[in-house]
Amino acid sequence: MDYDIKDINLAAKGRLRIEWAGMSMPVLSQIRERFSRERPLEGVRLSACLHVTTETAGLVKTLKAGGAEVVLCASNPLSTQDDVAASLVADDEIPVFSIKGEDNATYYSHILAALRHRPHLTMDDGADLVGALHFIALNKWDDLAPSVAQWGSSLSEDERRDFLANVTGGTEETTTGVIRLRSMEKDGVLQFPIVSVNDANTKHLFDNRYGTGQSTVDGIIRATNRLLAGSTFVVSGYGWCGRGVTMRAKGHGAHVIVCEVDPLRALEAVMDGFQVMPIADAAPLGNFFCTLTGDINVIRAEHFKLMRDGAIVANSGHFDVELDLPGLADLATERRFIRDFVEEFLLEDGRRLYVLGEGRLINLAAAEGHPSSVMDMSFANQALCAEYMAKQHGAMKKQVYPVPPEIDEEIARLKLAAMGVKIDTLTAEQEKYLSSWEIGT
Ligand code: ADE
Repeated sequence: MDYDIKDINLAAKGRLRIEWAGMSMPVLSQIRERFSRERPLEGVRLSACLHVTTETAGLVKTLKAGGAEVVLCASNPLSTQDDVAASLVADDEIPVFSIKGEDNATYYSHILAALRHRPHLTMDDGADLVGALHFIALNKWDDLAPSVAQWGSSLSEDERRDFLANVTGGTEETTTGVIRLRSMEKDGVLQFPIVSVNDANTKHLFDNRYGTGQSTVDGIIRATNRLLAGSTFVVSGYGWCGRGVTMRAKGHGAHVIVCEVDPLRALEAVMDGFQVMPIADAAPLGNFFCTLTGDINVIRAEHFKLMRDGAIVANSGHFDVELDLPGLADLATERRFIRDFVEEFLLEDGRRLYVLGEGRLINLAAAEGHPSSVMDMSFANQALCAEYMAKQHGAMKKQVYPVPPEIDEEIARLKLAAMGVKIDTLTAEQEKYLSSWEIGT
């Protein structure tokens, strides 16, 4: 079996941590039991490009239990848990290609290894796998690492097309990936159907809000060990992830400022009790900054120039493009790592700014990502959508689809049942009332 991981001897530690995470993933466990009985993914080759964590281990084991031949590669160079990668290889015979801290060329070589598996289904977190597949098929290499581009340009046209030949569909985990895939669909480039797991209510309302909320603050605290109480904490982006982070930073006693471009979201942040202002006004005020926008160059050189000595800057959006780090590097006279995941940039006037986790998503770089109990629902969606797509073979168009509502509702029901929470059911009279317009008030 081919694989590329840091150290197979880490497997024992990884196995125990995977077991620990599994205890908080009852919905996925139930799906795994059913999958091992029914084998709905028998004969399906599935390439997954996900953060290699204890929770992802639970998902890929579930897919394998369902009969899929799974290969896993990292969806970010800094998010891999090396002990988990080792356990998946040693204990589950699942080929894994990911090493925490890998360089860009290795990152793309790992994506290529997952593509050489010739998947029927893809599973992405950020659309790098689907993106690379399309770059190969369309012979557009410019955005990939030079070593990969060199390999790609040596392929014949037939070989390149062959990469796409078996793919019948894919799933996408995150907001950023869905944005990319929708623009591929809009430009008529998307070559196979994708289900947007991120759009499920049982995904973004919990994973993005409570998962990113807790784990981002966790990552910032683990990296810095600084006190949030009494600090000024600036959050750029008030989507579900941003809402989660503001909520948790406030809970720690920080004074929270929100920066937004969308008037509705800005208004919501105001009424949720936060101060709202442009980043240029917030820059001189913040002790902590965190971007969660999905966009590029949200904090730029002009903002870094205004920050106070000691300001701490992090990103928790999917890609490391939200902070203009080249711009900051140009302002700096010296740089050094002062502790793990904390890089100091010394400016000409003596001010020091601190960037966490090289601007990569801090919740996975310096902490362990979203807690298992929210990933339980996200990955239940992934597993059930993989089953759904396998059954749909050929019937879907080359577009981005929402998660079928039956899957979303079923996951909510299973999660409540696992938590021991009971809810009411409508009486016949109430059902009738809701479906009629003749009954008076
Ligand atoms: N994305 C965010 N947190 C994650 C986790 N714990 N596992 C996999 N993907 C994640």
